[in-house]
Amino acid sequence: MNILILGGGGREHALAWAVMQNPKCDKLIVAPGNAGIAQIADCADLDIEDGARVVDFSVSNSIDFVIVGPEAPLAAGVADALRHAGVPVFGPSAAAARLEASKRFTKEICAAAGAPTAAYGVFRAAEPARAHVRATGAPIVIKADGLAAGKGVVVAMTEAEALAAIDEMFAGGFGAAGAEVVIEEFMEGEEASFFVLCDGQTVLPIGTAQDHKRIGEGDTGPNTGGMGAYSPAPVLTDAVAERALSEIIRPTMAEMARRGTPYQGVLYAGLMIRDGAPRLVEYNVRFGDPECQVLMMRLGAQALDLMQATAERRLDQARVTWAADHAMTVVMAARGYPGAYARGSVIGGLDDLPETAFQMCFHAGTAMRDGQVVANGGRVLNLTARAGTLSEARDLAYAMGTHVQWPEGVMRGDIGWRAL
Ligand code: AMP
Ligand code: GLY
Repeated sequence: MNILILGGGGREHALAWAVMQNPKCDKLIVAPGNAGIAQIADCADLDIEDGARVVDFSVSNSIDFVIVGPEAPLAAGVADALRHAGVPVFGPSAAAARLEASKRFTKEICAAAGAPTAAYGVFRAAEPARAHVRATGAPIVIKADGLAAGKGVVVAMTEAEALAAIDEMFAGGFGAAGAEVVIEEFMEGEEASFFVLCDGQTVLPIGTAQDHKRIGEGDTGPNTGGMGAYSPAPVLTDAVAERALSEIIRPTMAEMARRGTPYQGVLYAGLMIRDGAPRLVEYNVRFGDPECQVLMMRLGAQALDLMQATAERRLDQARVTWAADHAMTVVMAARGYPGAYARGSVIGGLDDLPETAFQMCFHAGTAMRDGQVVANGGRVLNLTARAGTLSEARDLAYAMGTHVQWPEGVMRGDIGWRAL
């Protein structure tokens, strides 16, 4: 079959790598792709948030299956356009993607489903929001309602920080995403991510992971898209996972179906776990990046079969086969990220890296220039490995870093510290 993947980050390189291992895949196109993806698939220049264009492209390239990587095309209705045109697609409708696109919507669904999550209030103006913070005190969490590329959340440890965040959001600091602000109770505990597939009815868990959001070692400094991840997440034990399924995820999926907007795709539940009890932090309607890299390392070729079963509503017959192993990915980022950073520095040594089922360097923000790989984004490379134990996986991932010749690149040296 001919497959199209939308996106061009480390997540999409990992998806492409897994899909290519499946003998069902005859031809793979990734739009827009990156320098690493270009080594294993065709890359196409396409506006992936324009549903009509994605449909035209799919029809004219005889695409049998589309996999949507990021949230923006989903929120823009690209999966709806494809389904409407009869092109099989992995990814939820725009209506179902509101689980990520609107924090307020997710809170309302949780309330209707009885799913445990932080207490909250919704505000449309700064003054009542400020009064709420003054009455409640810190720590407290301030969130822009809409999609803000992962930057619309401020975990305020002091009242002053909370008030500053409110002012910034209502001053338009997050664009339209900040027209409404959700203020939440601060939840304590350990965070982990739970990934399930849902075909509108059946829910199938496909793995757990933990990522490191902060730029600095010891999980300090500003938030990033994620500086590294590992799977499985030890804190998400079978017992906690079962509670997350029965108390949070299945009731949410049932509520979405009841409203006539069944959820079809991968659901990424960010959970806060304390004393064995999970509460929902947030939903994402896509794979995490870099969490996808460790999940694909562990799933391999079957990932395509599972995504197809999701799209064809036959997850009740699907099974996941897990090797009893651990995976880790370490992100190499451009110096300065998540603040300002330069593009265009040359990355050497990539040809010396192993490319096996156990060690892969997935590309995120890379491009080709004059026959050389150059940095073209904040997060640039994902050194990813799999082994019998997490500490072996870590050693294999960091060993790859010694081959990469890129003085402008930085990485954290302590990915996985909590689990190790
Ligand atoms: P997001 O950018 O939406 O992934 O959220 C950023 C991070 O903020 C989450 O991963 C949590 O670490 C933290 N966070 C969000 N909501 C809460 C909450 N109610 N209590 C504690 N931490 C939170
Ligand atoms: N790594 C966090 C995310 O993909 O949202």
